[in-house]
Amino acid sequence: MRQKIVAGNWKMNKTLEEAGILTSELMGLVADEVKGNVKVVLCTPFPYLYPVKQQLGNNARISVGAQNCSEHDSGAYTGETSVAMLKSMGIPYVIIGHSERRQYFGEDGALLATKVDKALAQGLTPIFCCGEPLDIREKGTHEQLVKQQVEESLFHLNAEALQKVVIAYEPVWAIGTGKTATSQQAQDMHAVIRKHIASKYGAVAENISILYGGSVKADNAKELFACADVDGGLVGGASLKSREFVEIVKAI
Ligand code: PGA
Repeated sequence: MRQKIVAGNWKMNKTLEEAGILTSELMGLVADEVKGNVKVVLCTPFPYLYPVKQQLGNNARISVGAQNCSEHDSGAYTGETSVAMLKSMGIPYVIIGHSERRQYFGEDGALLATKVDKALAQGLTPIFCCGEPLDIREKGTHEQLVKQQVEESLFHLNAEALQKVVIAYEPVWAIGTGKTATSQQAQDMHAVIRKHIASKYGAVAENISILYGGSVKADNAKELFACADVDGGLVGGASLKSREFVEIVKAI
């Protein structure tokens, strides 16, 4: 059975105090209302990772994740955060290659492959993001592009390493737009990704959790999560409100 995961990507939102309130609300709601073995991951801004982790204590259901990491180990890289720093704080997950990083910070497939390697070398689980922009979807070459993104940043790994990666398929046109992929579109792309992985790695592909991201809300999560190849979600805007987010978690 693949691990079910619902990760909240807080992006650049919330003050320290608000982060604490959201965390405490979620701890209560998850404990009271969430059944089953879904893993909840809170991808907070860097400054809140440690306080949120401390607040969670040894909570077995909720973990923390970073939204990015440096491709360098250490040194004169002002403003950057290394994977070793994340590891030293006990942070288990890191998002790598979010479309906003690709789009606004020029991160490409080769750079992301390095970040994936750094994360795996320190024992963190990369949540590797892929997904096509609108013009590519309209041209009909989205399958090709997403396969290429996966190939460029993950296909250098051996099977054992690849099994430690979580993939998030996030069509760029669905992120923050309120325009979700239909469950059919999500399932089709997840199946394409899994088949592509199987073409190189065989049965290992069956063990890899592939999350859907892009305007996941409480009212569409159930249908998306019901798809055979959708193993959870990477949730942006709707992860900033405890009630909405926990309803998404419960939909799995
Ligand atoms: P959204 O963001 O849920 O606000 O569309 C998803 C993401 O960017 O991970």
